Amino acid sequence: MNVLGIETSCDETGVAVVVDGVTIRANEVATQGAKHAAYGGVVPEIASREHTRVISQLSELALAQAVGKIDLIAATAGPGLMGALLVGVNFAKAMAYTWRVPFVPVHHIEGHIFSPFIDGAPPQWPALALIVSGGHTQLIYCAGEHRYELLATTRDDAVGEAFDKVARLLDLSYPGGPSVQRAAENGDPAAFRFPRAFRGSDTLEFSYSGLKTAVLYALQDKPDANVADVAASFQAAAVDVLLEKTKLALQQTGAPRLIVAGGVAANKLLRDRLEAEIDVPLHIPPLPLCMDNGAMIAAAGYWRYQAGYRGTLDDTPSAGLSLVA
Ligand code: KG4
Ligand code: ZN
Repeated sequence: MNVLGIETSCDETGVAVVVDGVTIRANEVATQGAKHAAYGGVVPEIASREHTRVISQLSELALAQAVGKIDLIAATAGPGLMGALLVGVNFAKAMAYTWRVPFVPVHHIEGHIFSPFIDGAPPQWPALALIVSGGHTQLIYCAGEHRYELLATTRDDAVGEAFDKVARLLDLSYPGGPSVQRAAENGDPAAFRFPRAFRGSDTLEFSYSGLKTAVLYALQDKPDANVADVAASFQAAAVDVLLEKTKLALQQTGAPRLIVAGGVAANKLLRDRLEAEIDVPLHIPPLPLCMDNGAMIAAAGYWRYQAGYRGTLDDTPSAGLSLVA
C-alpha cells in the first residue's frame, strides 16, 4: 500500500511516500529554519505562508519518486500551529477527493511514535515512549496499538525549546539543538552546576524553565563565561533529567521496550547515554527521521488505516489535538 504522508504542523513541510508503513520511497522535507532565524523562534504567519509556497512543488518531487498509484493519504491534524496545519490537511483532503482515495488524519506525536519502525521491524506493544521535541517533552505508555496513556509532560518549557532559548542566550544559531550540541563538544559539562528539576523525586514530570533561567543568571554573573562550558553544562543537565525520568518510568510501568523520538532524539549525548544505560530494547529513529517529516505521518497513517480508522473530508485540524482519546 502506497501512503502519501504530509506534515505541516510547525516549521517543516514534509511530504513522503512510504510503502506498507515501513519502506520509504520518497521523503522530502523543506525546512524553514532560515526564515525564522532572525526571530529566534517560529513565527506562525511566516510558517503558514511558507507551507503554502512549497507544498505543491514538494509533493511533485515526492510523487515522482513513488512507484505505482497512491492508495491512502495521511496528514498531521494536530497538535501544532493552526494556520500551518490547515495547509497540510486541506491539501491532503483535496488530493484524496481528486484521486478517490481514503484520507486519514494523524496525531503529530503518534507520527513520532511510529518513526523508529520505518525501515525496520513492525512496531510491538506495550512500549514506553519518550517524546522530546521543540513543543513536547512527554512520557507516554503505549499499552497496545493506538492505546496511549500520558504519564508525564513538562510543567513549562519543552526540552527542545530550552535548547533553542539557551542557544539564543549564547548567541548561537537557530534551531538551538544542533548548535548547542556543537558548541558543547569542546566544553566541560561540570563547569557549571545547573539544576535538574525534580531529581530524586518519584514524579515523572519535567520542568525546563528553571534550567534556562539558571543559564541566564550564570551568564549575567559571568558575562565572559566560556560558551562551550555553558553549552556542555546545560546539555548535561537537560539530558540527565531525561535519563532519570525515563528509567523511573520504565521501572514503574515494567514496559519491555523504549521508543525515543522527536527532534531532540537527534542529540548525540542523549543517544549515547540511552544506548549505554537503558537495558530494554531501544527504538530510536535515524537522525533524518528525528526531525518532523512526512514519512512518520505516512507510517502512522498506514497503521491507523490497518486498524480500521477512516477520516472524512469534513475533518478539520485542531491546534490542541489530544493523543489520549
Ligand atoms: O520534532 P521537531 O523537529 O519539531 C517539533 O515537533 O518541535 O523538533 C525540533 C526541536 C528543536 O527544538 C531543536 O532545537 C531540537 O529539536 N533539536 C535538538 C537537536 N536537533 C534538533 N536538540 C538537541 N540536540 C540536537 N542535536
Ligand atoms: Zn515533532
